[in-house]
Amino acid sequence: MIQKDGHWQHTYENAVGRWAGIGPYYAMFPNEFAFSVISQFTAKGDWVLDPFAGRFSSIYAATSQERNGVGIEINPVGWVYGQSKLHPAPRELVEERLKQICYRARYFGTRSFKTLPDFFLHCYTPRVLSFLLAAKNDLDWKNNTVDTTLMGLILVFLHAKQGSGLSNQMRQSKAMAPDYSVRWWHYHDMKPPDLDPLGFLQSKIDWRYKKGIPAEVGDGTASLADSTIEMVHIASEIEAGKLSKFRLLLTSPPYYDITHYHYDQWLRYWMLGGPSWPSKAEDKHRGRFSSQTAYRELLDTVFMQASQVMADDAIVYVRTDKRQFTLDSTRESLQRHFPNWELKETDRPITGQTQTVLFGDYSRKPGEVDLVLRSRP
Ligand SMILES: C[S@@+](CC[C@H](N)C(=O)[O-])C[C@H]1O[C@@H](n2cnc3c(N)ncnc32)[C@H](O)[C@@H]1O
Repeated sequence: MIQKDGHWQHTYENAVGRWAGIGPYYAMFPNEFAFSVISQFTAKGDWVLDPFAGRFSSIYAATSQERNGVGIEINPVGWVYGQSKLHPAPRELVEERLKQICYRARYFGTRSFKTLPDFFLHCYTPRVLSFLLAAKNDLDWKNNTVDTTLMGLILVFLHAKQGSGLSNQMRQSKAMAPDYSVRWWHYHDMKPPDLDPLGFLQSKIDWRYKKGIPAEVGDGTASLADSTIEMVHIASEIEAGKLSKFRLLLTSPPYYDITHYHYDQWLRYWMLGGPSWPSKAEDKHRGRFSSQTAYRELLDTVFMQASQVMADDAIVYVRTDKRQFTLDSTRESLQRHFPNWELKETDRPITGQTQTVLFGDYSRKPGEVDLVLRSRP
């Protein structure tokens, strides 16, 4: 990442830019956007909160600019991405671990495939599948930084366009339904790429580490948790004087009924212990998208708790979906819990002068809205 004429741009010429790319995730903030909001609304040493952190771009942008941040994410895929880029392990240790997993792969032969749906044998060659099963079994991605980093890199390339990843042809951002994929591969006569996982992932490690790892300039915490519960812990840490109040809330809550974060990432979630088949039930139980009432409750609980941990002059910056129900619920909830804050609403993309001046001309997805609240003097 680099700042030019007051605007952030993405570059692969430095470590911060290379690691910022981890990893593909639905509805993610463009890095340029997260870096700009942090530099505009916070000062060095400030604390930033993101209770729906996704791949943790907000917290990464904060720590890269000498701010501190706490992010919370319920989906382990997003958490692994966040933890890998906030605290990447030393290169030699990751390479050593990769070799160990490749060695261990020999114990995960055809007999281990029997428990898996057919899809997996169409998606990966036996050599790659053995490697994945060894990684899935051995990597302690929740507790060991080396294992988290390696798992993060595997997840990035778990599925992608033919030749760019470990799988047969698939989108990198979203895992397709197994039956559909198998039919599609048959129809197009596509086979999984015959590659050596060691050589393939070593080349990815070489590229990622080529400019080093980002200096840990700020304090960044990635929590794998449900915000409705974790925010209570954060509030008690602040009360006990162990944590400062937050200067900026920068987040993007889930969009109602638009995406299914576990379902769309089911293959990566499988690597982390999820079912070997996509299941919307995971989202219902863990993502609370089951009803409009439950969705409103999620926003209300989290924003209510957030209002108690923000500094009096804090700024709240929420990017959300433009569709009516999500936008109305988010706006109402924010106004209820930040009654003394003034709300400004901006459509994205925008051609208006103000936002162009504020944020520059970088990529934005259509159909989103920024809700920015500032405390009244
Ligand atoms: C719109 S995405 C955030 C994307 C993020 N801004 C990024 O740049 O990657 C919303 C996220 O909220 C997460 N989420 C949903 N319910 C949650 C909860 N109760 N606690 C924590 N995270 C939750 C989803 O898993 C999803 O990753």
